[in-house]
Amino acid sequence: MSSAAISVQGLHKTYGATTALQGLSFEIPSGRITGFLGPNGAGKTTTFRSLLGLTRPDSGDVAVLGLEVPAQLPTITKRVGCIIEEPGLIKAHTGRVNLMIAADTLGFGHDRIDEMLDFVGLTADAGRRADGYSKGMRQRLALAAAMLGDPELLLLDEPLDGLDPAGQKAFRARLRALADDGKTVVVSSHDLADIEALADHVVVVDEGRLVTQGPLEDLLGAAGTRVVVADRERAAEVLRASGIDVREDDEALSVESEDGAAIIRTLAEAGIYPSEVTPSRTTLESVFLGITGEGDL
Ligand SMILES: Nc1ncnc2c1ncn2[C@@H]1O[C@H](COP(=O)(O)OP(=O)(O)O)[C@@H](O)[C@H]1O
Ligand SMILES: [Mg+2]
Repeated sequence: MSSAAISVQGLHKTYGATTALQGLSFEIPSGRITGFLGPNGAGKTTTFRSLLGLTRPDSGDVAVLGLEVPAQLPTITKRVGCIIEEPGLIKAHTGRVNLMIAADTLGFGHDRIDEMLDFVGLTADAGRRADGYSKGMRQRLALAAAMLGDPELLLLDEPLDGLDPAGQKAFRARLRALADDGKTVVVSSHDLADIEALADHVVVVDEGRLVTQGPLEDLLGAAGTRVVVADRERAAEVLRASGIDVREDDEALSVESEDGAAIIRTLAEAGIYPSEVTPSRTTLESVFLGITGEGDL
């Protein structure tokens, strides 16, 4: 518990007749990148708002950096940087002036502004009015603003949404650099691919509840092979006889070995010829299939 950057226990939140969170509990480890993953409406933004005292849950316990919310929010907010929903920008001002205003509002000095503009690659555009910024530039400016107080924890709500692939890649690289520097980074997304490409740790939520949590590697499951073959039962017997674990699914065999060539050889030696042999790492994906019915959030 002591190493958890965030700990949430039994969080409930209703908005009138809508239940946003129903007993949500999870933990986020320090010093890593955690993906907070769930389909639209799962309760991600409500959770982030609860962590920062921007919304008051009906019940439940929330601790951020080991400090209780809401009692210790004044200390917490000094140590946490965030992007929640569309970052507010004053469009008539330049990027740099927006950061100056953000620093003043948050009670931080201006001493890190140049460094943060450089970090997010906006030095050359810092003197331009923000209404000429692209979506990606606005997101980068928001990241710079979130970093002004040199926070140890960053809470970023869907920061990759709407960025083009190159922009997403650059943004992910910046977040990785921050984690390498010892920061705890929490990124929400409704897109499994975003999180697979970025996170060390994953918390999956749906309908205001925890679905699963753990290191990404564990949730992806062991690498295996999917084998489509006419006589599944016999093929499974042959593979098991050669010491390879196999599970029979509805349409294919899930083979617990990455060595496709060895699988094909073993089956061929028994006169069995599969129609399809493909690498698979499906655990996390099957969790999403369970939630969304399509594997795409
Ligand atoms: N201010 C609000 N008023 C009413 N309902 C809300 C409000 N904020 C969120 N909700 C509802 O709570 C649920 C969770 O929303 P949200 O936390 O925004 O999910 P996510 O960020 O995962 O998409 C949704 O059903 C949403 O419509
Ligand atoms: Mg949201």
